[in-house]
Parts: sequence; structure tokens; C-alpha cells
Amino acid sequence: MATTTDAIAKVRQEFPFLRRKVHGGLPLTYFDNAAMTPVPSIVQQRLASYYQSDTANIHRGLYYVSVEATRQYEDARKRVQKFINAKHCDEIIFMPGTTIALNLLAQAISAQFAATSNNDSEKTEIILTTMEHHSNIVPWQLQTNLCIKYLPMLANGELDLDALPQLISSKTKLISLVHASNSIGTINPLPEILQLCKAHGLITIVDAAQSVGHMPVDVQTLDCDYLVFSSHKIYAPTGVGVLYGKQDMLKQLPVVSGGGGSIKQVDLDKTSFLPPPAKFEAGTPNISGVLGLDSALEFLMNNDLPQLWQHEQDLLSYATAALQEIDGVRIIGTARQKVSILSFVIAGIHPHDIGTLLDFEGIAVRASHHCTHPTMKHFKVPATVRAAFSFFNTTAEVDLLVKAVSKAIHTFR
Ligand code: ALA
Repeated sequence: MATTTDAIAKVRQEFPFLRRKVHGGLPLTYFDNAAMTPVPSIVQQRLASYYQSDTANIHRGLYYVSVEATRQYEDARKRVQKFINAKHCDEIIFMPGTTIALNLLAQAISAQFAATSNNDSEKTEIILTTMEHHSNIVPWQLQTNLCIKYLPMLANGELDLDALPQLISSKTKLISLVHASNSIGTINPLPEILQLCKAHGLITIVDAAQSVGHMPVDVQTLDCDYLVFSSHKIYAPTGVGVLYGKQDMLKQLPVVSGGGGSIKQVDLDKTSFLPPPAKFEAGTPNISGVLGLDSALEFLMNNDLPQLWQHEQDLLSYATAALQEIDGVRIIGTARQKVSILSFVIAGIHPHDIGTLLDFEGIAVRASHHCTHPTMKHFKVPATVRAAFSFFNTTAEVDLLVKAVSKAIHTFR
């Protein structure tokens, strides 16, 4: 196990939040990176700079500052395009987050299905997985013209790929699935899954909220139709997400949320829309948040990402091995490929109690069902304790976690 390298120590310095103290002086050990990543100084400076000198709405003003704000906003779109290797920058739509992006897709695509259906009483089948975050289940359940089939998980928290061909029928039109599980860390073998689904003509949607900050995500290599992620899990501000869609798909996708900024012409009886991305960005967007995302991606791309991500994997292996040694600890989700998310339970102690005891030691984890009730049900647990590592975490911090878990168990026994 490599110890913390100079590169990790250096990158850690860029996050002022990590110097915070809690409970009257304890150093903060931050392991809740799957819920929210802190932002580096460059992102804080970008937000300040927008509100100090570039404060203007975009795509509307003809004056200097507005033109400048618009240029920066559109440069951010190009940066996102580069980061996920999209073919065109108009394939990048800024949204308030992954959840809203998935709701938009569910509403718009189910409307497309309804418009092309020859039989109003026959539901269109779609495939989700039992590993999904609620955000990739509920928006689809809300569409009454859809019948959802679920790809199940195996005992270790990997998807049961053998079950996939049987789920696809002539009525199946779409698969939407998570790249990496937020609650158990499993990385799904997307190339294999997407290839099979595309061979059957399915629309493919990827929830990359937990992968895009921790491994390479290349939309052209994946060849997915749509992909979504949130900025607050990639070292950028809250309130921004990205919806990637292939150019021809976005052109066909109907508008489900219209308003200023998205239209070509409004008459009293009809409206025509601008081409994507404007068509999907009605209303004043989260301009400062998008600029913050731009700076976060600049920060990441200026670092040695393969090295940082390898460090996350090293931390995961180190922590898994150490926690497994503790009597009573059960790791939840033992897939062969995982992002740096480690979920566990302890026999006889509720995860919320463990979470509280870890907090007393200054350790921030999430103890919850993680908005994945079906995943919890699969593992027959109400919740887990989840340590989600970032590249700025250290083995010394993992040692603190292991010590605190042992202490918590001792407290209860
Ligand atoms: N989806 C986020 C998490 O997993 C909030 O914690």
C-alpha cells in the first residue's frame, strides 16, 4: 500500500474545508464524498469573481459584462464536453442536478413513446436495475405509460448480467442504469451491458453521478445515448448538473419545461424552440455554479487524475482489508470493481448509532439507506455506514476510522 504521496499532500492543500475543526477542536476526517465533495480554492475564487465583477445574466444582455458572462458560461460547456469527450458542445445541457436531469429524460422520453405508440393500452417496457438510486427509479415510476423491469443483483452486489437478455422483449425500448452505485460502490460493466441493449435498439441512459469524479468517463467510447451527473460530486458547487445527449437524440427530444431563453418564437397559440442546448435550458440558469464547475474541471484536468484515482483505489483496498479484520463488521457490496465507496454494518448496532459515534471522533460518514431502498432490501439491512473516499484522503485518516469503529463496537458491548 503506497503511503500518501507528495502529490496527494499537495492536492489536499487546495481544499480549505479539510482544515476545518469540529466538536470544539477535533480535526475533521471527511469521508462523505459520495454525498458532497468539497470545492478547491480555485472554485471558491471563481464564485467570488462572478459575484464581484462578472455579475450579469447570460444570453440576454448586449452590454459588455453580460457578453463576458455568456462567454464564460459557454466556455464551461466546452470544458465539460472535453472532460467527458462529447463530440459536440451542444450535446451538453446544464441542469440543476442529476435528479432533475433524470426527471426531464423520463418525462420527455415517455412522451415520445406515447406519441409513437399504436396501442394506447399497451405499456412500453423499460429496464432499470435494483441497484439504482431512487432518482433513477421514481421519475420512471411516475410515467404511467411505462412498465418497469428490473435487472437484479447477485449476492456480492454485482448485476446479474445473465438475466439481461431475458428482460428484453419486442416491447422494451430503454435501459437506464447507474455507472457506479452510490451505496455499495459497484462499477457496472457498461460496455458489455450497453452493447447488448443497443443491439436490441434500446435507448441507453447512464447515471454517472458517482463515477465521473473517480474514473474516466468517455461518452463516445461508451456510446450511450444520454448520460447525467452532478457538479457537487465532482468538486464543484451545488445546484448544477449535466445532461449529455447525442446530438440527434436531443434534437428529437420534446421540451417538457419551457420558458425564456429556450424559444425562437412565441405566438399566442404556439411556440417554436431553439435547437439544443438552449431548448432545454429555459429560465436563468445557475450561472455561478456552472462557472464553478468549469473551474473544478480545470483543476481536475491540471492534476494527474490516473494517479489520484489510483490513490482512491488504494485507500479502498486498505480500508476494506482493515475493517474486515474487525469482529462483527460485514462489508455490504463486495463487487470486483468498485469506486472508492465502502459500506458496512456491524452486528447488533444500528448504522445510525455507529455514524453518531464516528462523528464524536470527528469522522464524517453517511449512515443511511443512501436513497437506495431496493439495494438495502437486497442485502437485508435497513441502512449501512458508508465511507466514501476522495483522492485527498489519507491512510492515516483510514486508520482513524478503523480505530473509531473498534471503539464504537467496544462502547456497545
Ligand atoms: N446521492 C447522494 C449520496 O449518495 C446524496 O449520498
